[in-house]
Amino acid sequence: MNHIHKTFDSAKLDALVTRAMGDLSAGYGGIMISLGHRLGLFKAMAGAGPLSSHELAARAGCAERYVREWLNAQFAGGYVAYHPVSNTYELTPEQAKVLADEDSPAFIPNAWAVPASMWADEDLAVEAFRTGNGIPWGDHDGRLACGVASFYRNAYKASLIAEWLPALDGVAEELTAGGLVADIGCGHGHSTTLMAKAFPASRFHGYDTHDKSLEEARKVAEEAGVAGRTVFAPARANTYPGTGYDLICFFDALHDMGDPVAAAAHAAKALAPGGTVMLVEPFANDRTEDNVSPVARIYYAASTTICCAHAISDGGHLVLGAQAGEERLADVFRRAGFTHFRRAFETPFNLVLEARL
Ligand SMILES: C[S@@+](CC[C@H](N)C(=O)[O-])C[C@H]1O[C@@H](n2cnc3c(N)ncnc32)[C@H](O)[C@@H]1O
Repeated sequence: MNHIHKTFDSAKLDALVTRAMGDLSAGYGGIMISLGHRLGLFKAMAGAGPLSSHELAARAGCAERYVREWLNAQFAGGYVAYHPVSNTYELTPEQAKVLADEDSPAFIPNAWAVPASMWADEDLAVEAFRTGNGIPWGDHDGRLACGVASFYRNAYKASLIAEWLPALDGVAEELTAGGLVADIGCGHGHSTTLMAKAFPASRFHGYDTHDKSLEEARKVAEEAGVAGRTVFAPARANTYPGTGYDLICFFDALHDMGDPVAAAAHAAKALAPGGTVMLVEPFANDRTEDNVSPVARIYYAASTTICCAHAISDGGHLVLGAQAGEERLADVFRRAGFTHFRRAFETPFNLVLEARL
């Protein structure tokens, strides 16, 4: 007889089904958030008070019937308020911080571009699982690079200059006086440009293997008025040019590299005497059993089809994954000849680590 029926716990099953439905509902909500962002619907609602679907449609230049259905989806998800008596909808100040204010550290819509790219690239992932081959960063759907860059940009904006650099021993002082900085795996270069703006006496080099990201990084620096002190060039983490860097940074990039020990060893050669490596990595604890949270789930998932896949395509000597944790990262730097390694700062999303020779 079928003994499965005898052994399962219906309360546990109910709890899991409820959870799975919540996740599925979030997936449907994601495309609604992305549409609201792209069509300017959230921005049209921010600070406007109660609006009818007709008023919002007119403000955003969209068709009312679509807007009305979208509004009801947002209300059902808890992302806009609804006033039944007046049949109007409103974005609360807290909802505006999360959905309309692009400069808020809590702004979430851009983050949905990453799972969108992961769905679009599912066939690549299926193939990679079967063959064991990698997927280079640049082969992904274009929403990946933009999603990652804009997701982290606000965290960098809020914390890099105000908290992370001052947490490193003597680095902010050195950059104020005028130093040379390399940003390895710089992507769209938001980190590079923020530092260049904050430290006008210093010079900055951003290196990456993805040409499209470098083009974007040049634009970001140009728009911020720091193009004269920033150079973005294609280079690998273990062969980029130059020596005498006072600070070498890896922002969410070391674990993507196929040979992180070689990248750290190259940094050891390229640093000025007394120079510092700033390693910014996704927050993780050292043990799998301690990485159970919504943030860990996001990072492990992205790590599976993006980070591990890129590292494998990049040689795959040591595939750290996005949940490496401090101990494994420290080991990379020990193996590359560094003697000093410490956690300088942490947030729910990032570990900020300091390494010295
Ligand atoms: C997750 S993105 C982070 C980009 C950026 N630092 C940020 O924080 O938004 C990782 C970046 O590392 C770059 N990358 C991966 N392997 C590399 C390597 N071996 N050498 C240089 N860059 C590399 C990728 O092209 C990508 O732009």
